[in-house]
Amino acid sequence: MNKITVSAPGKLMLLGEHAVVYNRPCLVTAVGQRMYATIESLVEPVFELEATDVKVTGYKKPLAQLGEGEIFKGAMFVGIAVKNFTKKYAIRGGVRITTKSEFSSLFGFGSSSASTVCVIKGLAELTNTKLNNKEIFDLAYKTVLEIQGKGSGFDVAAAIFGGTIYFVIGGKVIEPITTESLPLVVGYSGIKADTVTMINQVAQKFADSPKKAEKILNAIAQLVNQAKQALIAKDWESLGKYMDMNQDYLRDMGVSTEKLETLIFAAKKAGAWGAKLSGAGGGDCMIAITPEDKVENVKQAINQAGGKVIDVTINVEGVRIEK
Ligand code: MEV
Repeated sequence: MNKITVSAPGKLMLLGEHAVVYNRPCLVTAVGQRMYATIESLVEPVFELEATDVKVTGYKKPLAQLGEGEIFKGAMFVGIAVKNFTKKYAIRGGVRITTKSEFSSLFGFGSSSASTVCVIKGLAELTNTKLNNKEIFDLAYKTVLEIQGKGSGFDVAAAIFGGTIYFVIGGKVIEPITTESLPLVVGYSGIKADTVTMINQVAQKFADSPKKAEKILNAIAQLVNQAKQALIAKDWESLGKYMDMNQDYLRDMGVSTEKLETLIFAAKKAGAWGAKLSGAGGGDCMIAITPEDKVENVKQAINQAGGKVIDVTINVEGVRIEK
């Protein structure tokens, strides 16, 4: 075999964003929109990339030079994943990778981490390197940290394990939560947020008032643990309440925006049990947990308030071999 196609899902943060960077737990679910990577081994020790979704075509670089000098931002995660894998497992030949995404990198669904996971899983299969999911996690997380410098790795875990996960930074805890469907409506705010900028902004705020930060972080940890129980019990109304509480803290941290607040307010007014931003804030998406008979109203309200409803299935399968 010298060619393989692998796919991995995107993610949606349910509760606990930012606090998870400070060693508190979060809840994340994998979404039905997937990232695909076809990986082909080459004799020549080069890295080639076709990633039209991020406008990269005909990219070629000697393997030995990966990570040196400039690399297109869109190619970075794939390139560094190849570098880390080929170095760690002493792979000599080259690779050609073609990526294709079912979702826009604008939504904050974690396209970078999903592509990193696809590459590591695919290279492991192609080179007959036996890696379990935790080993894939460790290498993918190292890759993400090398590029971003910061992040909990929750998105990497969602891409690998799929389903819905209770997660602690660095994969200290990756606990699958059994839940069937979650009645979620997702609205895109129309603004692309930068995760690292938002993490830095929160860090600055916390440094200014560390005591308040501790209080907020502990309160979020507590409500994430309560939300986990509500999720297991399928108590959507309580889950909605915890989402609302989480949103109050996120607003306090300064990561919500006027647009997100407008969409959240509209969703709640139209009958959602609870709503909050999802991810780093500063833009990206909001989520609303919604009774079945109010879903259409909530979707309409989000669209009318200037958001864009994105249809997602959640709780989907993690990384897998396609062919
Ligand atoms: C970003 O989607 C969520 C953050 O908690 C960052 C992270 O956990 O890597 C802000």
